[in-house]
Amino acid sequence: MVPPLTFRFIDGTEVRRLGYGAMRLTGQPGNFGPYEAWDDGKKVLQRALELGINFIDTARAYGPGWNERLIGETLHPYPQGLFIATKGGVVKKTATERYLDGSPEGLRRDCEESLKNLRLDCIDLYQLHWVDPGVPLSESVLGLAQLQQEGKIRLIGLSNITVKQLEEVRSIARIASVQNRYSVGERQGEPMVAYCAREGIAFVPYGPLGADPMKPGAPLASAEGALADIGRKLGATATQVALSWLLHRAPNILPIPGTTSIAHLEENVEAAKLDLEPDQLHRLDDGVGG
Ligand SMILES: NC(=O)c1ccc[n+]([C@@H]2O[C@H](COP(=O)([O-])OP(=O)(O)OC[C@H]3O[C@@H](n4cnc5c(N)ncnc54)[C@H](OP(=O)(O)O)[C@@H]3O)[C@@H](O)[C@H]2O)c1
Repeated sequence: MVPPLTFRFIDGTEVRRLGYGAMRLTGQPGNFGPYEAWDDGKKVLQRALELGINFIDTARAYGPGWNERLIGETLHPYPQGLFIATKGGVVKKTATERYLDGSPEGLRRDCEESLKNLRLDCIDLYQLHWVDPGVPLSESVLGLAQLQQEGKIRLIGLSNITVKQLEEVRSIARIASVQNRYSVGERQGEPMVAYCAREGIAFVPYGPLGADPMKPGAPLASAEGALADIGRKLGATATQVALSWLLHRAPNILPIPGTTSIAHLEENVEAAKLDLEPDQLHRLDDGVGG
Protein backbone atom coordinates (compact mmCIF):
# COMPACT_ATOMS: atom_id res chain seq x y z
CA MET A 1 0.00 0.00 0.00
CA VAL A 2 1.13 3.57 -0.64
CA PRO A 3 1.96 5.04 2.81
CA PRO A 4 -0.17 7.86 4.26
CA LEU A 5 0.62 11.19 2.63
CA THR A 6 0.01 13.37 5.67
CA PHE A 7 0.84 13.58 9.38
CA ARG A 8 -0.87 15.42 12.22
CA PHE A 9 1.29 17.11 14.84
CA ILE A 10 0.23 16.98 18.51
CA ASP A 11 -1.78 20.19 18.11
CA GLY A 12 -3.71 18.77 15.13
CA THR A 13 -1.79 20.65 12.42
CA GLU A 14 -1.61 18.50 9.32
CA VAL A 15 1.36 18.52 6.93
CA ARG A 16 2.43 16.49 3.93
CA ARG A 17 4.93 13.98 5.22
CA LEU A 18 7.50 14.49 2.48
CA GLY A 19 8.98 17.88 3.26
CA TYR A 20 11.94 19.89 2.06
CA GLY A 21 15.19 20.57 3.91
CA ALA A 22 16.44 23.99 2.81
CA MET A 23 19.96 23.87 4.33
CA ARG A 24 21.69 23.36 0.98
CA LEU A 25 20.49 26.78 -0.23
CA THR A 26 23.38 28.49 1.56
CA GLY A 27 26.93 29.49 0.75
CA GLN A 28 29.32 26.57 0.23
CA PRO A 29 31.44 25.13 1.62
CA GLY A 30 30.15 24.81 5.15
CA ASN A 31 26.56 26.10 4.64
CA PHE A 32 27.98 29.53 5.41
CA GLY A 33 27.00 32.85 3.84
CA PRO A 34 24.25 33.57 1.32
CA TYR A 35 23.44 31.04 -1.39
CA GLU A 36 25.42 32.16 -4.43
CA ALA A 37 22.66 31.35 -6.92
CA TRP A 38 20.10 33.32 -4.87
CA ASP A 39 17.49 33.56 -7.64
CA ASP A 40 17.82 29.87 -8.48
CA GLY A 41 17.31 29.12 -4.78
CA LYS A 42 14.08 31.09 -4.91
CA LYS A 43 12.94 28.97 -7.85
CA VAL A 44 13.62 25.76 -5.92
CA LEU A 45 11.53 27.01 -2.97
CA GLN A 46 8.70 28.13 -5.24
CA ARG A 47 8.73 24.80 -7.07
CA ALA A 48 8.59 22.95 -3.75
CA LEU A 49 5.30 24.67 -2.96
CA GLU A 50 3.95 24.10 -6.47
CA LEU A 51 4.65 20.39 -5.99
CA GLY A 52 2.54 20.36 -2.84
CA ILE A 53 5.28 20.44 -0.21
CA ASN A 54 4.03 22.31 2.85
CA PHE A 55 6.68 21.43 5.41
CA ILE A 56 10.03 23.26 5.14
CA ASP A 57 12.93 22.81 7.54
CA THR A 58 15.64 25.40 8.10
CA ALA A 59 17.80 26.69 10.99
CA ARG A 60 19.17 29.99 12.18
CA ALA A 61 22.66 28.42 11.85
CA TYR A 62 22.30 27.90 8.08
CA GLY A 63 24.04 30.95 6.68
CA PRO A 64 23.71 31.94 9.57
CA GLY A 65 20.41 33.64 8.94
CA TRP A 66 20.78 33.61 5.15
CA ASN A 67 18.77 30.44 4.62
CA GLU A 68 15.85 31.80 6.64
CA ARG A 69 16.09 35.15 4.82
CA LEU A 70 15.92 33.40 1.45
CA ILE A 71 12.77 31.59 2.58
CA GLY A 72 11.24 34.80 3.97
CA GLU A 73 12.06 36.84 0.87
CA THR A 74 10.73 34.15 -1.49
CA LEU A 75 7.66 32.77 0.19
CA HIS A 76 6.31 35.58 2.37
CA PRO A 77 3.41 36.30 2.54
CA TYR A 78 3.08 32.61 3.24
CA PRO A 79 0.22 30.64 1.75
CA GLN A 80 -2.30 29.12 4.15
CA GLY A 81 -1.10 25.76 5.44
CA LEU A 82 2.63 26.25 4.89
CA PHE A 83 4.45 24.93 7.96
CA ILE A 84 7.93 26.24 8.68
CA ALA A 85 10.31 24.59 11.11
CA THR A 86 13.51 26.25 12.22
CA LYS A 87 16.10 25.69 14.93
CA GLY A 88 18.18 27.61 17.42
CA GLY A 89 21.04 27.02 19.78
CA VAL A 90 23.97 26.81 17.35
CA VAL A 91 26.12 29.88 16.81
CA LYS A 92 28.10 29.64 13.63
CA LYS A 93 31.17 31.89 13.41
CA THR A 94 32.77 30.72 10.16
CA ALA A 95 32.27 27.87 7.69
CA THR A 96 34.07 25.53 10.06
CA GLU A 97 33.68 27.08 13.55
CA ARG A 98 30.59 26.97 15.67
CA TYR A 99 29.63 26.79 19.32
CA LEU A 100 26.48 25.75 21.11
CA ASP A 101 24.38 28.10 23.19
CA GLY A 102 21.34 26.40 24.67
CA SER A 103 20.82 28.99 27.40
CA PRO A 104 17.32 30.48 27.54
CA GLU A 105 18.83 33.91 26.66
CA GLY A 106 20.71 32.47 23.68
CA LEU A 107 17.62 30.64 22.43
CA ARG A 108 15.54 33.78 22.82
CA ARG A 109 18.09 35.78 20.80
CA ASP A 110 18.14 33.13 18.08
CA CYS A 111 14.35 32.91 18.03
CA GLU A 112 13.93 36.68 17.72
CA GLU A 113 16.33 36.68 14.78
CA SER A 114 14.55 33.77 13.12
CA LEU A 115 11.22 35.56 13.47
CA LYS A 116 12.72 38.58 11.71
CA ASN A 117 14.49 36.56 9.02
CA LEU A 118 11.39 34.50 8.27
CA ARG A 119 9.06 37.53 8.56
CA LEU A 120 6.86 35.65 11.03
CA ASP A 121 5.08 36.56 14.25
CA CYS A 122 5.09 32.95 15.38
CA ILE A 123 7.24 30.02 14.28
CA ASP A 124 5.28 26.79 13.65
CA LEU A 125 7.95 24.44 15.00
CA TYR A 126 11.02 25.63 16.89
CA GLN A 127 13.71 23.03 17.50
CA LEU A 128 16.69 22.98 19.81
CA HIS A 129 19.38 22.27 17.20
CA TRP A 130 21.91 20.52 19.47
CA VAL A 131 21.98 19.96 23.22
CA ASP A 132 24.49 22.38 24.78
CA PRO A 133 26.64 20.33 27.18
CA GLY A 134 27.19 23.50 29.24
CA VAL A 135 23.46 23.99 29.95
CA PRO A 136 21.09 21.43 31.51
CA LEU A 137 18.65 20.33 28.81
CA SER A 138 15.80 21.07 31.21
CA GLU A 139 16.85 24.76 31.22
CA SER A 140 16.93 24.91 27.43
CA VAL A 141 13.47 23.34 27.26
CA LEU A 142 12.16 25.72 29.91
CA GLY A 143 13.46 28.57 27.75
CA LEU A 144 11.58 27.16 24.77
CA ALA A 145 8.42 26.72 26.87
CA GLN A 146 8.65 30.40 27.82
CA LEU A 147 8.87 31.40 24.14
CA GLN A 148 5.86 29.20 23.49
CA GLN A 149 3.86 30.85 26.27
CA GLU A 150 4.68 34.25 24.77
CA GLY A 151 3.31 33.08 21.40
CA LYS A 152 6.63 33.37 19.57
CA ILE A 153 6.69 29.65 18.76
CA ARG A 154 3.82 27.18 18.42
CA LEU A 155 5.40 23.74 18.76
CA ILE A 156 8.66 22.64 20.39
CA GLY A 157 11.05 20.15 18.82
CA LEU A 158 14.43 18.72 19.76
CA SER A 159 17.25 17.72 17.45
CA ASN A 160 20.26 15.44 17.91
CA ILE A 161 19.01 13.96 21.15
CA THR A 162 18.72 10.55 22.81
CA VAL A 163 15.60 8.76 24.05
CA LYS A 164 16.83 9.24 27.62
CA GLN A 165 17.16 13.01 27.14
CA LEU A 166 13.76 13.19 25.50
CA GLU A 167 12.14 11.28 28.36
CA GLU A 168 13.77 13.56 30.91
CA VAL A 169 12.21 16.73 29.54
CA ARG A 170 8.76 15.59 28.45
CA SER A 171 7.26 16.64 31.78
CA ILE A 172 8.58 20.21 31.27
CA ALA A 173 7.00 20.86 27.87
CA ARG A 174 5.09 18.97 25.19
CA ILE A 175 7.64 17.86 22.62
CA ALA A 176 6.16 17.73 19.12
CA SER A 177 9.11 16.43 17.14
CA VAL A 178 12.56 14.92 17.13
CA GLN A 179 15.02 15.57 14.31
CA ASN A 180 17.90 13.08 14.26
CA ARG A 181 20.07 11.55 11.58
CA TYR A 182 18.44 8.45 10.10
CA SER A 183 18.06 6.75 6.74
CA VAL A 184 17.74 3.27 5.27
CA GLY A 185 21.54 3.16 5.38
CA GLU A 186 22.01 4.56 8.92
CA ARG A 187 19.83 2.90 11.50
CA GLN A 188 21.27 3.86 14.89
CA GLY A 189 18.07 5.86 15.37
CA GLU A 190 15.73 2.83 15.49
CA PRO A 191 14.94 3.09 19.23
CA MET A 192 14.09 6.77 18.81
CA VAL A 193 11.91 6.11 15.76
CA ALA A 194 9.99 3.43 17.69
CA TYR A 195 9.65 5.66 20.77
CA CYS A 196 8.33 8.60 18.75
CA ALA A 197 5.93 6.38 16.79
CA ARG A 198 4.51 5.06 20.05
CA GLU A 199 4.14 8.53 21.56
CA GLY A 200 2.72 10.35 18.52
CA ILE A 201 5.85 12.52 18.20
CA ALA A 202 6.97 13.44 14.68
CA PHE A 203 10.32 11.95 13.73
CA VAL A 204 12.12 14.10 11.15
CA PRO A 205 15.08 12.17 9.76
CA TYR A 206 17.87 14.37 8.50
CA GLY A 207 20.35 13.12 5.94
CA PRO A 208 17.58 10.88 4.51
CA LEU A 209 19.77 10.24 1.46
CA GLY A 210 22.84 9.59 3.57
CA ALA A 211 24.53 12.91 2.79
CA ASP A 212 27.35 14.44 4.80
CA PRO A 213 25.88 17.81 5.89
CA MET A 214 29.11 19.60 4.95
CA LYS A 215 29.59 17.98 1.54
CA PRO A 216 27.52 17.80 -1.64
CA GLY A 217 26.14 14.53 -2.97
CA ALA A 218 23.96 11.75 -1.67
CA PRO A 219 25.57 8.34 -1.16
CA LEU A 220 22.22 6.54 -1.30
CA ALA A 221 21.37 8.11 -4.67
CA SER A 222 24.14 6.17 -6.35
CA ALA A 223 23.94 3.08 -4.14
CA GLU A 224 24.09 -0.25 -5.92
CA GLY A 225 22.40 -3.25 -4.33
CA ALA A 226 18.92 -3.47 -2.83
CA LEU A 227 17.88 0.17 -3.47
CA ALA A 228 18.90 0.10 -7.11
CA ASP A 229 17.47 -3.41 -7.70
CA ILE A 230 14.08 -2.52 -6.25
CA GLY A 231 14.14 0.78 -8.11
CA ARG A 232 14.69 -1.02 -11.43
CA LYS A 233 11.68 -3.25 -10.75
CA LEU A 234 9.46 -0.27 -9.95
CA GLY A 235 10.80 2.09 -12.61
CA ALA A 236 12.14 4.33 -9.84
CA THR A 237 15.53 5.65 -8.76
CA ALA A 238 17.50 4.43 -5.73
CA THR A 239 16.82 7.84 -4.15
CA GLN A 240 13.07 7.41 -4.51
CA VAL A 241 13.22 3.93 -2.99
CA ALA A 242 15.28 5.27 -0.04
CA LEU A 243 12.69 7.99 0.60
CA SER A 244 9.77 5.63 0.13
CA TRP A 245 11.30 3.20 2.65
CA LEU A 246 11.25 6.03 5.22
CA LEU A 247 7.62 6.82 4.43
CA HIS A 248 6.70 3.13 4.82
CA ARG A 249 8.79 2.64 7.96
CA ALA A 250 6.41 4.49 10.32
CA PRO A 251 3.55 6.96 9.79
CA ASN A 252 5.21 9.61 12.01
CA ILE A 253 8.36 9.86 9.85
CA LEU A 254 8.63 13.14 7.93
CA PRO A 255 11.67 13.04 5.63
CA ILE A 256 13.21 16.35 4.60
CA PRO A 257 15.51 15.60 1.65
CA GLY A 258 17.65 18.56 0.71
CA THR A 259 18.42 19.63 -2.82
CA THR A 260 19.51 22.62 -4.88
CA SER A 261 18.10 21.07 -8.05
CA ILE A 262 14.56 21.37 -9.35
CA ALA A 263 14.92 18.05 -11.20
CA HIS A 264 15.96 16.29 -7.97
CA LEU A 265 13.16 18.00 -6.07
CA GLU A 266 10.61 16.74 -8.57
CA GLU A 267 12.09 13.25 -8.42
CA ASN A 268 12.03 13.26 -4.62
CA VAL A 269 8.39 14.34 -4.41
CA GLU A 270 7.37 11.50 -6.72
CA ALA A 271 8.76 9.04 -4.14
CA ALA A 272 5.63 9.56 -2.03
CA LYS A 273 3.62 7.71 -4.70
CA LEU A 274 5.74 4.55 -4.58
CA ASP A 275 4.24 1.38 -3.25
CA LEU A 276 6.84 -1.01 -1.82
CA GLU A 277 5.87 -4.68 -1.45
CA PRO A 278 6.36 -6.37 1.95
CA ASP A 279 9.26 -8.49 0.62
CA GLN A 280 10.95 -5.35 -0.74
CA LEU A 281 10.54 -3.61 2.61
CA HIS A 282 11.97 -6.65 4.41
CA ARG A 283 14.94 -6.69 2.09
CA LEU A 284 15.63 -3.02 2.83
CA ASP A 285 15.06 -3.54 6.55
CA ASP A 286 17.96 -5.98 6.43
CA GLY A 287 20.34 -3.38 4.97
CA VAL A 288 21.11 -1.70 1.67
CA GLY A 289 24.43 -3.33 0.83
CA GLY A 290 23.26 -6.26 -1.30
N1 LIG B 1 19.27 18.76 12.70
C1 LIG B 1 20.47 18.71 12.19
O1 LIG B 1 21.49 18.72 12.90
C2 LIG B 1 20.60 18.65 10.71
C3 LIG B 1 21.85 18.32 10.11
C4 LIG B 1 21.90 18.24 8.72
C5 LIG B 1 20.76 18.48 7.95
N2 LIG B 1 19.59 18.80 8.55
C6 LIG B 1 18.36 19.04 7.77
O2 LIG B 1 18.13 17.92 6.94
C7 LIG B 1 17.97 18.34 5.59
C8 LIG B 1 18.45 17.25 4.66
O3 LIG B 1 19.79 16.91 4.95
P1 LIG B 1 20.94 16.95 3.87
O4 LIG B 1 20.62 17.94 2.79
O5 LIG B 1 22.23 17.09 4.58
O6 LIG B 1 20.98 15.48 3.32
P2 LIG B 1 20.20 14.59 2.25
O7 LIG B 1 18.81 15.06 2.07
O8 LIG B 1 20.45 13.19 2.65
O9 LIG B 1 21.00 14.82 0.89
C9 LIG B 1 21.15 16.04 0.24
C10 LIG B 1 22.13 15.82 -0.90
O10 LIG B 1 21.58 14.87 -1.78
C11 LIG B 1 21.55 15.35 -3.11
N3 LIG B 1 20.27 14.94 -3.69
C12 LIG B 1 19.03 15.30 -3.31
N4 LIG B 1 18.10 14.72 -4.07
C13 LIG B 1 18.76 13.95 -4.96
C14 LIG B 1 18.36 13.12 -6.02
N5 LIG B 1 17.07 12.94 -6.31
N6 LIG B 1 19.32 12.49 -6.75
C15 LIG B 1 20.63 12.66 -6.46
N7 LIG B 1 21.09 13.45 -5.47
C16 LIG B 1 20.17 14.09 -4.72
C17 LIG B 1 21.65 16.84 -2.99
O11 LIG B 1 22.40 17.34 -4.09
P3 LIG B 1 21.67 18.33 -5.17
O12 LIG B 1 21.63 19.66 -4.53
O13 LIG B 1 22.58 18.23 -6.34
O14 LIG B 1 20.31 17.73 -5.43
C18 LIG B 1 22.41 17.07 -1.68
O15 LIG B 1 23.81 17.18 -1.89
C19 LIG B 1 18.73 19.65 5.52
O16 LIG B 1 18.29 20.46 4.47
C20 LIG B 1 18.43 20.25 6.87
O17 LIG B 1 17.17 20.90 6.81
C21 LIG B 1 19.50 18.87 9.92
